[in-house]
Amino acid sequence: MNNSNEVATAAKTPVADTPPVQSSESPMNMTADAIAVKPVDVKAAELDNSQAANTAKTTNTDATVGEIRSPNPSMVCRDINVWYSDNHAIKNVSLDIGRNEVISMIGPSGCGKSTFLRCLNRMNDTIPTARVEGSIKLDGEEIQDRGIDVVPLRARVGMVFQKPNPFPKSIYENIAYGPRIHGLTNNRAELDELVETSLQRAGLWKEVKDRLEAPGTSLSGGQQQRLCIARAISVSPEVILMDEPCSALDPIATAAIEQLIDELRQQYTIAIVTHSMQQAARVSQRTAYFHLGDLIEVGSTDDVFNRPRHKLTEDYITGRFG
Ligand SMILES: Nc1ncnc2c1ncn2[C@@H]1O[C@H](COP(=O)(O)OP(=O)(O)O)[C@@H](O)[C@H]1O
Ligand SMILES: [Mg+2]
Repeated sequence: MNNSNEVATAAKTPVADTPPVQSSESPMNMTADAIAVKPVDVKAAELDNSQAANTAKTTNTDATVGEIRSPNPSMVCRDINVWYSDNHAIKNVSLDIGRNEVISMIGPSGCGKSTFLRCLNRMNDTIPTARVEGSIKLDGEEIQDRGIDVVPLRARVGMVFQKPNPFPKSIYENIAYGPRIHGLTNNRAELDELVETSLQRAGLWKEVKDRLEAPGTSLSGGQQQRLCIARAISVSPEVILMDEPCSALDPIATAAIEQLIDELRQQYTIAIVTHSMQQAARVSQRTAYFHLGDLIEVGSTDDVFNRPRHKLTEDYITGRFG
């Protein structure tokens, strides 16, 4: 697969000879919500007895199974390869990130989820051994070009990390910093307003409006993560990348972030890496399954979890691998 057309065609064509299982009796037809509350090992046991388990699945890892394209893409990635020295961490991955959708990246540890996410705003540039090849377009504009200024790019494609990382500054300054360096406001009143709307969009305003001068680090973990989301929002991004944003949070803080992600989808495109299949099922409309640097399967979250077409996807979501 040397050009994008071939990739798109390869990815569009089902590799398996047999169509995905459609039987209404199959336990695999449960909804994403059902998965969210159902322990994965129970599902695996049911799957073993189902007709679906007997259906031949593709095992080919050369071509992605499912539709890599989105009808209204915000980002278009084609033939992405990433190496760390001679470790080939991402292999010929092509994927669209659809506008106003949440796409989750799942797969076993070390499969390249974070590496792929970091391609989307050139964060791999910060890793000296990393080399990225391929085409990544944001609204049709190639972001892989050497001439691209990564500072405005990273405002347009913001990032939220696993561990909340507020600046060692006040709550107010955490949000005001970005708009100031990007020159987004003309005076203090405009900046105050932008700080307020960013915190409101991140669902944090009510909790912090009377303590804007307190250090960002004085907030709880969940509040700090919402502060980091507000910080990303403050510079008007189009895309927000989140790398396991809830893995350091308790279940209540996690639920608040998940609800926020759903609300933010109206205005932003969100790509989220999660090690929780339940979380992927709850927050995303599309899911991409990675395995050892290959994008194995992509599709609607419902399809990927309930009607996986690739053997590796099925093994992972049923808990046999991972
Ligand atoms: N900063 C780095 N330097 C060198 N190798 C890395 C670095 N980050 C990741 N890798 C390697 O790239 C591969 C994919 O890692 P990663 O993208 O972190 O996977 P995931 O996020 O799915 O756990 C692994 O083999 C990992 O060891
Ligand atoms: Mg990771």
